[in-house]
Amino acid sequence: MTYEERYDSYRKQAQHALERTAFEVFHKDRDSRVAQAARYSLLDGGKRVRAVLCLAVCEMLCGDMELAARYAAAVEMLHCYSLIHDDLPCMDNDDFRRGKPSCHKAYGEATALLAGDALLTAAFEVLSTGNGAHANQNALACSVLARAAGARGMIYGQELDLHYETAAATEKQLREVHRNKTGMLIAAAAQLGAVAANAFDSDRQSVEKFAFDIGLVFQMVDDVLDVSATTQELGKPAHSDEESGKTTFVTLFGVDETMRMADELTMQAVRQISEKFGEKSDFLQAFARSLVRRGN
Ligand code: IPE
Ligand code: IPE
Ligand code: MG
Ligand code: MG
Ligand code: MG
Repeated sequence: MTYEERYDSYRKQAQHALERTAFEVFHKDRDSRVAQAARYSLLDGGKRVRAVLCLAVCEMLCGDMELAARYAAAVEMLHCYSLIHDDLPCMDNDDFRRGKPSCHKAYGEATALLAGDALLTAAFEVLSTGNGAHANQNALACSVLARAAGARGMIYGQELDLHYETAAATEKQLREVHRNKTGMLIAAAAQLGAVAANAFDSDRQSVEKFAFDIGLVFQMVDDVLDVSATTQELGKPAHSDEESGKTTFVTLFGVDETMRMADELTMQAVRQISEKFGEKSDFLQAFARSLVRRGN
């Protein structure tokens, strides 16, 4: 299988799990606009990077792929909630997401807020009911995601991100923003793959470190794409960071230097994962390289 075929196969496994779990937690036959809005944002579009990472880590560690698919769906639900709230007028005020109107443009702000809340809650319902897992496996999965997404993780990153719209950030401060707002959830996705494989702590820590590095690269590239790609290519508004006056890697270093730093960090992450897991990490190595070269 080529890298692209394998990515596509993971993406499809995640999509099936998302459809199955969305059906469980957002009943189709109930006349709820919040459920409709959640499905609208969740089920079509998105690169499913976090889900693919979770599945790839689990497979590398010879784990239970059914359970990993469920954990992958939970991470994508949580990620989708973060995007719905991120686009609200009180946050980044972006009207376009995944190639269509943002949730609040399609359903109104109140419904979008609730759809985000519903997805956040659903993620933990899905994790806590993973079939075939030992009780402590699902509990560990919940605590990994809660820690990463909460006030010491992604939420803190979002708080800092807004703060640095009106205050200047140093490189160190910006790394702290990106590590929290983006790195934490990507690291949680990788760890959930390890939890689904009942991995040793040392293996879980290695994939966590790898994921933090590629998570930082992922957000550096996101900052570059904001100024270098078009709205059509991105499926979300280009120049959003520029318009809100955010400090980003591009405002601090420019596009070329940011990409050089991203390449260097990617090489470091690839070296680390290959030293630890050898050939078994081939897919993850290619995954890291593809994230730095992505076009959306
Ligand atoms: C967007 O994430 C938010 C960031 C952390 C940069 P993605 O670029 O993974 O968005 P989707 O899921 O593909 O829409
Ligand atoms: C989003 O960062 C991070 C979270 C949603 C937690 P951005 O604001 O840069 O993401 P985009 O560019 O809107 O996708
Ligand atoms: Mg934002
Ligand atoms: Mg945004
Ligand atoms: Mg961005």
